[in-house]
Amino acid sequence: MDLFEYQARDLFAKHGVPVLAGEVIDTPEAAREATERLGGKAVVKAQVKVGGRGKAGGVKLASDPADAVEKAGQILGMDIKGHTVHKVMLAQTADIAEEYYVSFLLDRTNRTFLAMASVEGGMEIEEVAATKPEALAKIAVDANEGVTLEKAREIVDAAKFPEDVKDGIAEALQKLWTVFVQEDALLVEVNPLIKSGDGKIIALDGKVSLDENADFRQPEHEALEDKAAANPLEAAAKAKNLNYVKLDGEVGIIGNGAGLVMSTLDVVAYAGENHGGVKPANFLDIGGGASAEVMANGLEIILGDPDVKSVFVNVFGGITACDEVANGIVQALELLKSKGENVSKPLVVRLDGNNAELGRKILSDANHPLVQRVDTMDGAADKAAELAAAK
Ligand SMILES: Nc1ncnc2c1ncn2[C@@H]1O[C@H](COP(=O)(O)OP(=O)(O)OP(=O)(O)O)[C@@H](O)[C@H]1O
Ligand SMILES: [Mg+2]
Repeated sequence: MDLFEYQARDLFAKHGVPVLAGEVIDTPEAAREATERLGGKAVVKAQVKVGGRGKAGGVKLASDPADAVEKAGQILGMDIKGHTVHKVMLAQTADIAEEYYVSFLLDRTNRTFLAMASVEGGMEIEEVAATKPEALAKIAVDANEGVTLEKAREIVDAAKFPEDVKDGIAEALQKLWTVFVQEDALLVEVNPLIKSGDGKIIALDGKVSLDENADFRQPEHEALEDKAAANPLEAAAKAKNLNYVKLDGEVGIIGNGAGLVMSTLDVVAYAGENHGGVKPANFLDIGGGASAEVMANGLEIILGDPDVKSVFVNVFGGITACDEVANGIVQALELLKSKGENVSKPLVVRLDGNNAELGRKILSDANHPLVQRVDTMDGAADKAAELAAAK
């Protein structure tokens, strides 16, 4: 989960990384008092989860409270690379002498963590990496050792920071590493980390991405979720503990096992080419124990998606046998009907594997008007695509 800059700033402050005071607002008028509290002038910064805000006009200096109202008015509602600005942060203005870059991230390729640092901060670091790779130091960080003072000095030396800021930056690096570890982050990036006119090291911008796999031990992170931006179907699926990802096609997909669902997406996309280009509407893995309740939850999410025209239930019976899944489907449809859900979209069901014959018989005997059985994966995908195209 990516955080907004102001949330990253809060985490930095919590772990002792030097930051400037700031306030988050969502109406231009609120900028007036906030700016007064910040000492009469402020930097107005768009809060969107995308880089390059400054270049896009989303970071502006306001010289007084009235000016801050005007600048906030310009930035709120602005579209930055497809992200609408709903909030701005007013930050104390810094007297910048130099701008640097530092980050920690998970380096999957090398199965380690990585520190990156450069004296060429402020601008896009991708550009520095591409045009002046020697200016971006990369130092592996061992997970067990972490960023000791020695390691921090190694990073600082590799990036050739000026002598007068080396200690300050090494200290900031150690604190940023604490953020990285204690908050279970996958990325902690500061661009720019500045030296102020009076020689202080301050984090002026922050990007933090948290590892959602650690949510179970980070109860405070739930409050950082941007509930307003979440896809409502994905949010509903998450609340039901379903592995669901919304896609932009028309064929709803339910399968058991991530691998099977992935290949189902491929097969449906391929079949869809013969039916006007219909595509999968989602990824949904109901996992191993596909009880009637889990099936009903999955169907409820998918049938609630207005983009869905047909549904393909693709199940390979393993530990959960096909007869249980078939009963699950039949019961799920009844359950949804009894809850007053409008169940009107055609379902194509393919059952194979453990107890397939029995499962198929259960479906045939149930004789549900919306359910069709097709016993091969390709055939079922074709049928589901055809039904979606016909709607
Ligand atoms: N509080 C501040 N005081 C003075 N100048 C600032 C302040 N915050 C940012 N700036 C200036 O604005 C520039 C851009 O700000 P910032 O790094 O926050 O946004 P950005 O890098 O454009 O956005 P992103 O990080 O999303 O790419 C900084 O490099 C710095 O020169
Ligand atoms: Mg920046």
